[in-house]
Amino acid sequence: MVRGEVARALAALAAHRVEIEGQSISDLFRDDPQRFERFHIELDDILFDFSKHRLTETTLRLLLDLARAADVEARRAALFAGEPVNTTEHRPAMHMALRNLTDRPMYAGGQDVMPEVLAERLRMEAFAEAVRKGEAKAANGARFTDIVNFGIGGSDLGPAMAARALAPFVADHLSLHFVANVDGADLGDLLKRLPLETTLFVVCSKTFTTLETMTNAATARRRVAEALGEEAVADHFCAVSTHLDKIAAFGIRSDRIFGFWDWVGGRYSIWSSIGLTLAIGIGAEKFEKFLLGGQDIDAHFTSAPLDRNAPVLMALLGVWYRNLWGFATHAVIPYDQRMARFPAYLQQLEMESNGKSVDLSGGSASLATAPVIFGEPGTNCQHAFFQLLHQGTDIVPVDFLVAAQPSGADLEHHQLLFANCLAQSQALMQGRSLAEVVGRLEAENMSPEAIAALAPHKVFAGNRPSSTFLYKRLSPRVLGQLIALYEHKVFVQGVIWNINSFDQWGVELGKELAGKLAPIIADRESSTEAFDPSTAGLIAAARRRSKN
Ligand code: F6P
Repeated sequence: MVRGEVARALAALAAHRVEIEGQSISDLFRDDPQRFERFHIELDDILFDFSKHRLTETTLRLLLDLARAADVEARRAALFAGEPVNTTEHRPAMHMALRNLTDRPMYAGGQDVMPEVLAERLRMEAFAEAVRKGEAKAANGARFTDIVNFGIGGSDLGPAMAARALAPFVADHLSLHFVANVDGADLGDLLKRLPLETTLFVVCSKTFTTLETMTNAATARRRVAEALGEEAVADHFCAVSTHLDKIAAFGIRSDRIFGFWDWVGGRYSIWSSIGLTLAIGIGAEKFEKFLLGGQDIDAHFTSAPLDRNAPVLMALLGVWYRNLWGFATHAVIPYDQRMARFPAYLQQLEMESNGKSVDLSGGSASLATAPVIFGEPGTNCQHAFFQLLHQGTDIVPVDFLVAAQPSGADLEHHQLLFANCLAQSQALMQGRSLAEVVGRLEAENMSPEAIAALAPHKVFAGNRPSSTFLYKRLSPRVLGQLIALYEHKVFVQGVIWNINSFDQWGVELGKELAGKLAPIIADRESSTEAFDPSTAGLIAAARRRSKN
C-alpha cells in the first residue's frame, strides 16, 4: 500500500516537474523577493539555505507528500525506538544513543543501552584525558607525543576527518596520524618520522579482522617489539572494537581496550570509542561538545515538522534531483580547508549506506538510489572541476559549506574565501546569457566575426541548484551537527528508496576474491589457470616484472 502511495506521489512530482521546467531559479527569485526567507532554516548554529533550488511551494508540498507516503515519520520512530531497521543483519541502528547526553533511556532491541554506553564513554574519555595529560605514559615513562590511528572505512574516515576539521582544538604537544591503506607506503612513510618511544597506536576495527587494519597493526607491533622490547607493546597499543575477545591475542592490556556494539554501523561509529584518537586530541570536554552537536540534530530531526526539518528537506531535494530530474551526481564543497576530508567521509556515509539496488523485500529497487558523491575544498576545486559544474552537460547539485568566521586564520583570507563561496552558488544559479556575453565583447571592441566565434563558449546556462550551509565557526558542536544532518538525510532517502541503509554487502565479494588471490600473488610459482584471462594475464605480467 505504502509503495503504491509513493508511486502516486512520484507521478505527481513528475507532472509538476514538466510544469516548472521552463522556470529558472533566477525567475523564482524575481517573482518572490521573500524566497530566501521562506526557504532557509536556522538551526542553533547552522543556517541551511535551500532557496537556490528548482523548488516552488508546490514542489515542496509534493515532496512532503512523498515523504508522508513513504511513511518517513513512522520509520523514523522505528529507528529511534531501536527496532531492527538493519533488516539483513537483524540489528537496530542506534548510533544516536552514543550521543545521548540526557538522562533519557534509549533502547536497542528492547534493552536500555544507556547504562553501558555511558560507562564505556566515561572509560574511553578518562583514558583519552590520561594520555592527553601525560598520565598514561609510554614504556620509558615519557608522555606520548604521537597518536597513530589504525583503521579503515568508518574506523578511519570519521576520526581522520574530524581530527583535521578540529585541528585548532587539538593539544599542541600531540600529533595525530591516521593510517588506513594496506599499501605499506602509508605506514612506512609515517614510521620513518615517528618517534616510536613516545607513540601510542590506537587499533580501531569493529570486527577486528579487517585485513588492512590488522596488517598495519601487526607491522607496527613488530616494530615496537624490535625497537622497544616485547613488554613495551602493552604500553604502546590500545584497541577499539566490538569483538573484545579477538583483541586479547594481540597483547593489549584490558584497561586499554574499548568496546562498542553491533548496533553501531562502522560509518556511524565516530560517536563511539572509535572517536578515541579524536578525544585524545581535543579532550573529553570538547568531544562531548561534538556529541552534543549530534544530539542537537537528533532533537531537531525528531521534533521539527517535516516542512521545517533540515535532514528531511536535504533528503527530499536529493530525491527530487536524483529521481525526477535524473541527476546522478552530487557535489559537497566545503569552503573550509579543515573540512577537506568531509566529502570523503560523506562518500562512505551516503554511498555505502544507499548504494543499493535491492529493496527491503529483496526485489529490484524501483528507483535510482544514491548519487555519486564527490567534492574537494573550495577554492581549490574552482580551478579544477568547476568548469564541468558550470558548463558541463551534466547538472550537479552542490552543497556549499562555509563558516562566517575564520577558525583563527587571517581575516583577509577568510573574506576572500567567503566571497568565492557565495560567488560560485550565485554563478551556478544566474549563469550568463548569450546577449550578455555579446554585449561585453562588443564593449571590448571585438569584431563581429570574433564575437560570433567566441561568444557561445562564454555562455553559462545557469539554473544549476545548490544549498548553502553557513555556520558561525567550525567548532566541535557544529561538526557534530553537520555529520548528524547528513546521517539523517541518508536515512530519509533510504526510506523513500525502500532500501536498507545500514548494511554493506557490496564490499564483500572483492574482499573474498582478494583473500583467494593473495596467496597466489605471494607464491610466484602457482598456476593462474583458474582465473579469467585478464586477471591471469595481469598476474603473469606482474610476475615477469617483479623478477627484474
Ligand atoms: O569494508 C567495508 C567496511 O566493513 C566498512 O563498513 C567499515 O567501516 C570498514 O569496512 C572497516 O571495518 P572494521 O571497523 O570492522 O575494521
